[in-house]
Parts: sequence; structure tokens; C-alpha cells
Amino acid sequence: MTEETLQQTVTKSLIEPHGGPLVDRTGERPDDLEGLETIMLTSREVSDLDMLASGALSPLEGFMGREDYERVVEDMHLANGLAWALPVCLAVEAAPEGDRVALADGDGRALAVLEVEEVFDYDKEREAENCFRTTDEAHPGVARLYAQHPLYLAGKVTVFDRPEPPFPELARDPADTRKAFEERGWRRVVGFQTRNPIHRAHEYLTKGALETVDGLLIHPLVGETKSDDVPAATRVECYRVLVENYYPADRVIVSAFPAAMRYAGPREAIWHAICRKNFGCSHFIVGRDHAGVGDYYGTYDAQLIFDEFEPHELDIEPMFFEHAFWCNACGSMATPKTCPHSGDDHVFLSGTKVRELLEAGELPPTEFSRPEVAEVLIDAYR
Ligand code: ADX
Repeated sequence: MTEETLQQTVTKSLIEPHGGPLVDRTGERPDDLEGLETIMLTSREVSDLDMLASGALSPLEGFMGREDYERVVEDMHLANGLAWALPVCLAVEAAPEGDRVALADGDGRALAVLEVEEVFDYDKEREAENCFRTTDEAHPGVARLYAQHPLYLAGKVTVFDRPEPPFPELARDPADTRKAFEERGWRRVVGFQTRNPIHRAHEYLTKGALETVDGLLIHPLVGETKSDDVPAATRVECYRVLVENYYPADRVIVSAFPAAMRYAGPREAIWHAICRKNFGCSHFIVGRDHAGVGDYYGTYDAQLIFDEFEPHELDIEPMFFEHAFWCNACGSMATPKTCPHSGDDHVFLSGTKVRELLEAGELPPTEFSRPEVAEVLIDAYR
């Protein structure tokens, strides 16, 4: 076999992007940019735009039109029947005049051009109820939805200026992660979404999953999160020290997932999985209360929702984990699935308790958090 055919064989064996080819919506800055009406995007919309550019949202080529939007909100499919869980829409105050508009970030820097296909109104309460399973404005995703402009502007985008990645050393587009997997000879790769520092429970999930596949993509979300989540810069340092000290370097890649958090629990778990498929992951970890917030979702709702799809529809394989903890009687990490002992033997610390310890400069027990990770957090709280 020549090197080229070998390469093709390897390339073919990675999971296909969602819906077929990996979309690329990057392109040239048009000459007539100055003359176009400019629409300023929110930070979440900039994240979505950048993911459209890189193919992370394949097969989407732009912000959704009404047909796709309606079908997604109603039954989690695009108009062409492909599975899709959350709207990717651009909210505007009024319909633009021209048939092309410039899209700019919050500072007014032009990033892209959108070819106007459609402007449509939408029902915020219905979107909230179907996508977030609540219309409660205390839910951060619902609050964001209710605060946004009343119309959706749809159309293909061409992105000529990508936003600066917050962590350039972790910035990898789907084409880059795919290339990295191929170079390592990985075919079965498990993706791990996180918006939190990695504690022992997360380590247990990721290592348990890695036991059965070729490689692990630790893929922390670095787009907008709610203000009381741990800032991405602190988390990134936690991932660095954890991986350096406790993971085999040739089996793990840490890379940034540029999305903003939606806090849509179950539907976001599906959306997260589809995006990770585009990054080349064949498997995706879903633990307890994935992408949840407050008590809007049942502990395992984000796992149960996968049953609403035929297995071939998503293609990427979810790997479900129950609530993981350290058990003193087992002398190891475990879950209710693998541990017969009572809660008295389990090390459980609430988020508030952990924060109190860290703020006081005290290390949480090593059964809960690796000391190297806790040190990073203590420094951050100081
Ligand atoms: S999330 O919003 O990105 O889901 P987080 O970073 O806390 O939040 O979780 C990352 C992943 O780990 C999710 O799949 C979540 O379900 C899982 N997870 C977090 N903590 C635990 C735990 N103690 N036991 C099992 N799964 C967990």
C-alpha cells in the first residue's frame, strides 16, 4: 500500500461529519463591504458564526431559516430530516434593506457577510418551552432568549475574519482535530464536554471511556458562560495540570470548544454530541445533568433524550455514566452502578462547600479533587 492510499484508508475510518462533508464557510473579504448595512452580533452569535465558519456546525452553512427552525423546535430535525437539537439563529431588530449584510462583533469589527434569505418572526415562549423545557425567566438560557431581538435573519455566511481565539494554543478547528486524530492513528475517539474544572468524577468518566477507545478529546467549552461559572482561563489551567500529571500524553488531546453555553440540558447534550462528531469524535460522554442548570432537568434526562433518535441518526455513540463519587468502602471511584455501599461511605461535597474550602485556601480531600487542580483554584479564588 502506498503512503497515499494508506492515508486515505485512515481518513475514511474516522466518523463522517454530520450530514456528509465538513462545511467550510471561510472566504474572502468582499470589496463592497463598506457599503453594506452592518449587524452587530452578541457574543453567543459570534461563537455560532465562528463554528459555522469552521464546519463545527456542519451541515449548517448559515443562520437557520424558518423551515429548519420550525422543525428543529418542534421535533429536533432539520427540514431535510437530519437530526438537529437546537436553533442556530441570528436575532435582529428589523429586516435589513439589502440582500447582503455585514456581520460584526460587539466592538464593531466586521467578521462576515450574510446573504439574506429570509427574515421571520418567532414565538419566544414556544422556543423556550420546547428547547429549554421551561419558560421560567430565571433560567439563564430562557432569560437570554427573552432579551433578544424579535426577528430571525437567515442566510448563508462567509466569514473573512475569524474572532481571536481566547486560548490560541488550544484553538483547533474540526479539520485540525480530525488531522490530529489521523496522525495518531486514532479511529475511535471519545469527546468530553465540560464547563467546569475537572475533578475526580470527571477524571473517572474520561478514563473509564478511554479504556475502550483509541483516544480522548477533552473539549472544554470556552464561549460565553453564566457569570458564576468558573472562568475559562482558570479551567484551562486546571486541565493543563491534570493532564500533565495524570493522563498519558499520547492518548489525550485538550482543545477548546468555541461554543457558548445554552444551559438547555437534554437538547444541548444532543447538540454537543453532533458538534463533537464534526470534530471527529465517534463517542461522546454524557454523565449526570449534562449541560444542566438549577433543577430544571432530571439527573439523567440528557441521557434519556438519546432514545428519541434512531441510533443511525446521530451516528456518534453516547457513553452514559451515572453519578460518580469516591467510595471509602470500595477504596475507589464508583457510581451507583458499580458500588453496593451506602451514601455514608461516599465522599460528596456540594459546590458551595468546595468553594468555601478553596476560598479559605484549604485543599478539598484528594478523593474529590487532585491537589494540583485544587491549587490552581485556590490561587484563582485568592
Ligand atoms: S456541563 O454543563 O459541561 O455538562 P460539567 O463540566 O460539570 O458540566 O460536566 C461535564 C460532563 O461530566 C457532563 O457530561 C456531566 O454530565 C458529567 N459529570 C459531571 N460531574 C459528574 C459526576 N459527578 N458524575 C457523573 N457525571 C458527571
